[in-house]
Amino acid sequence: MTTDKTSPQSDTHSGTHGAVIEDMAPDTDAPLVELRGAGKAYGNIRALHGVDLRVHPGQVTCVLGDNGAGKSTLIKIISGLHQHTEGDFLVDGAPVRFSTPREALDKGIATVYQDLAVVPLMPVWRNFFLGSEMTKGPWPVRRLDIERMKKTADEELRNMGIVLDDLEQPIGTLSGGQRQCVAIARAVYFGARVLILDEPTAALGVKQSGVVLKYIAAARDRGLGVIFITHNPHHAYMVGDHFSVLRLGTMELSAERSRITLDELTNHMAGGAELAALKHELSQVSGVDVEELPEEEDLTAPVVATGEGAS
Ligand SMILES: Nc1ncnc2c1ncn2[C@@H]1O[C@H](COP(=O)(O)OP(=O)(O)OP(=O)(O)O)[C@@H](O)[C@H]1O
Ligand SMILES: [Mg+2]
Repeated sequence: MTTDKTSPQSDTHSGTHGAVIEDMAPDTDAPLVELRGAGKAYGNIRALHGVDLRVHPGQVTCVLGDNGAGKSTLIKIISGLHQHTEGDFLVDGAPVRFSTPREALDKGIATVYQDLAVVPLMPVWRNFFLGSEMTKGPWPVRRLDIERMKKTADEELRNMGIVLDDLEQPIGTLSGGQRQCVAIARAVYFGARVLILDEPTAALGVKQSGVVLKYIAAARDRGLGVIFITHNPHHAYMVGDHFSVLRLGTMELSAERSRITLDELTNHMAGGAELAALKHELSQVSGVDVEELPEEEDLTAPVVATGEGAS
């Protein structure tokens, strides 16, 4: 694909908080999805403001931020649940404004929510095809093609490296991580080009998180553009190509993987000054050892090597 010449925002520039906003991922492929100065107000509440984001095929774009930072608002715009109230939202380079999630899905944008829309008592294969069942036979005697659905679900899960003992088991009996994996495989099967995952590892332990991260990588390797929302910089860093940190509705950091270390990302997420204040408060509480915690200077150190023209 050609270089995206339409974007005026490809240079390093200052973000709204004065933080350095790095150039986005290299423009080897045009972005599937792009936000330019996008924002959203819920009445008087400005949940999101001036956000730039690009999602490229075959890359994982991580969106990090604390509670209330605007992560869910951001993905609701992209997935068609809400509309932006400022800036631009482009899909394949063309401005869009979705009024329903169906319109986003039609453009290949699939969203896996944390509280997955599954029917717990139905078998895995049935949930895999929920809402898009395979049928056979002519109308009016058309009926569900159960055998084909089972076979396809089994094949698709295996293709993604997901091995479940029995697809007849109710999906409610799977672990949270396994359910996330089924949802990812389902989105891939139904032709998603952009896969949005809202905190898929938030409720999971270490091992299950690892499994979900593996399938995020598998979706990326299949050429999907993945938007991975998370609180956890370690999880983000394991699979991410690009990192965007939201704070109070604005994007205060946007950096490619090559420009930021895990330590820098972690410190940035924690909010250096806030963590230092917390350390000070904890030091007044007996029984808490703050000696092991990093020093204030380490936490507030500049996060990214600044580009030209930025300070
Ligand atoms: N429907 C709504 N009406 C009014 N305000 C809202 C609405 N949805 C979100 N907000 C506000 O917008 C801000 C951003 O919320 P959002 O849910 O996007 O944050 P988040 O980063 O997803 O947080 P969390 O990590 O807790 O999920 C918050 O201040 C929130 O109270
Ligand atoms: Mg949220």
